[in-house]
Amino acid sequence: MSSTPRFSTMSANHSSSSSTARPAAPGVLVILGATGDLTKRLLMPALLNLACDRLLPEGFAVVGMGRDVMTTEDFRTRLRGDIKTFATRPSLDPERWSWLESRLHYIAGEFDDPGAFARLRELVDGVGAEVGAAGNTLLYLAISPDFFALVNRQLDAAGFTRMPGAKRIIVEKPFGRDLESARALNRSLLAHWPEEEIYRIDHYLGKETVQNLLAFRLANGMFAPLWNGRHIDHIQISATETVGVETRGGYYDRTGVVRDMIQNHLLQMMAYVCMEPPATLDPLAVRDAKAALLSSVRRMATDEVDGACVRGQYGAGKKADGAPAVAYRAEPAVDPHSGTETFAALRLHIDNDRWRGMPVYLRSGKSLWKRGTEIVVQFRSDAAAAGGIDPIGGAAEGNLLVFHIQPFQGVEIRIQAKRPGPLFTLQRAGMRFDYADTFDAARGTGYEVLLHSAFNGDPTLFSRTDFVETAWEIVQPVLDAWAATPAADFPDYPAGTWGPRAASDLLARDGRHWHEILNRDVLSRTAFFAEAPALVLNNLLPAFRPLAVSAGETIVEAGALDDEMYFVCRGELEALAADGTRLGVLREGEFFGEMAVLFDQPRGATVRAVSGCDLLVLDGDEFRRIVDDFPAVAAEFRRIAEGRIAGNG
Ligand code: BG6
Repeated sequence: MSSTPRFSTMSANHSSSSSTARPAAPGVLVILGATGDLTKRLLMPALLNLACDRLLPEGFAVVGMGRDVMTTEDFRTRLRGDIKTFATRPSLDPERWSWLESRLHYIAGEFDDPGAFARLRELVDGVGAEVGAAGNTLLYLAISPDFFALVNRQLDAAGFTRMPGAKRIIVEKPFGRDLESARALNRSLLAHWPEEEIYRIDHYLGKETVQNLLAFRLANGMFAPLWNGRHIDHIQISATETVGVETRGGYYDRTGVVRDMIQNHLLQMMAYVCMEPPATLDPLAVRDAKAALLSSVRRMATDEVDGACVRGQYGAGKKADGAPAVAYRAEPAVDPHSGTETFAALRLHIDNDRWRGMPVYLRSGKSLWKRGTEIVVQFRSDAAAAGGIDPIGGAAEGNLLVFHIQPFQGVEIRIQAKRPGPLFTLQRAGMRFDYADTFDAARGTGYEVLLHSAFNGDPTLFSRTDFVETAWEIVQPVLDAWAATPAADFPDYPAGTWGPRAASDLLARDGRHWHEILNRDVLSRTAFFAEAPALVLNNLLPAFRPLAVSAGETIVEAGALDDEMYFVCRGELEALAADGTRLGVLREGEFFGEMAVLFDQPRGATVRAVSGCDLLVLDGDEFRRIVDDFPAVAAEFRRIAEGRIAGNG
């Protein structure tokens, strides 16, 4: 491992905390497309948060340009209304808002009108001189990439590329829709702006927990010797959403999850987790290390895509609150025969000395059972076996390091601990660092740190041309293979579920499974656990194993003596007597197998999946070990089980 990086650089430039950061450099922020959603939802709330934390300089102003014809006064009135809805802090500081509002200006103009850009330039010069912005200009393209080339030409013609002070241009994704269009887009940007003036936003890099990946790796040396494929079995990066495409069907249908999430956000996280530690935190060193990592990712041949990647599309199902959810193909502005993927899972390999042979699995999707972004680092199990203690469940189990990116924010290490008592038995346990318990950070939009960095000319958190193009190179074979063979089985997962079965199979073929990071709410949805105390649920959470089964699969056989209990997260199963008579149907929120676990009885019925099902499995030994510590709870579980027999009988 290289020398300790200079953390002073990080606290100066990458922190939005008012206790350590300095106000940004003076300048005028010019927002092109200022009447759109981005300005009211994210940019203004972020600017207000920066203003509240005294991180904006006195020499600051905003000039918005948009198509809507209105005056500066109208613009201010409109945003004054919007901020009440979109501010992220519990109470709005009127003095700070007035400070910001008095610095807002507006000019109406069409992007194809050179006169509008000349007037914009005049306004920016005037406002800049008034507040003392030192000629520094930050141009924010809050517009569709279709207009990038035109707007850049207009900005150039109006002299914005030759402004006297520091100038920067901020662009939002998508940066192209494939490798070729990304290269063309980059060429058109680079024709007007040098690389160091281009700031491409990936909003995941504005998340504290994503920035913490870098801090965790570089500032906690104890993990450094283990950070390689000799000690780590594999890494999983999952970003699952419960929402569907909402109002963005038109955009999404041309895009799909590989372009929307994997090419950018997931590869950014992967780069932080897997890059070589940079020798310093200088932007150049960090961006070089990330780009080098992506360059080492093995490019898939198109005919390897089938074996290494899975795609899916949601059908009708349920939202997280149980309300009905429509199929993707029935969403507004989506082609009713669309072949666009709303779910994807990829297995990647990194061909360098650190990671050779160790897979990284990426997964993302819409309309899934849970909203959560997590990175799971699964350590190898041979280290556990080497300890000489009988591991839990008879199978050696490696430690897990889990980075909870959102909505829970923290880091967790799953270990095995000795259970209290005279016997030397083990139980899975978790060591957790929870952001909310440790820091009193006011909730932000994630854009605060990005804007502050851009004002200060720190490009660390922005995507460089080579990163963007290499990321496209990695996903291009997947896009090509899928475009060449449309999926025959779409839709292949109901909304509100774990995604297509093929995603579990992808890992099962490698002898692995996805770590579904559960939270108590998920367990509380089952009748069995609805009343169980939080302490018991916390102990049980790490013990569950997800199991996806297809229609027709038998889960337990009547008379068998196995010892596992099952919880139905989705789908329908039937209980059958030994002669095949149907005894009943099991649905979401129900459970089975409890008689074997609680009363040591052979299976009373065969249980078979009627549809595709997502189940959670709990090993009997582990369940008993945990609940035996809570006799009242154990008795309650037995009461629930007995009640069910009585009810059925
Ligand atoms: C955006 C995608 O980049 O990220 C959206 O276009 C997605 O489709 C969003 O919903 C997810 O962001 P977050 O911050 O909610 O995880």
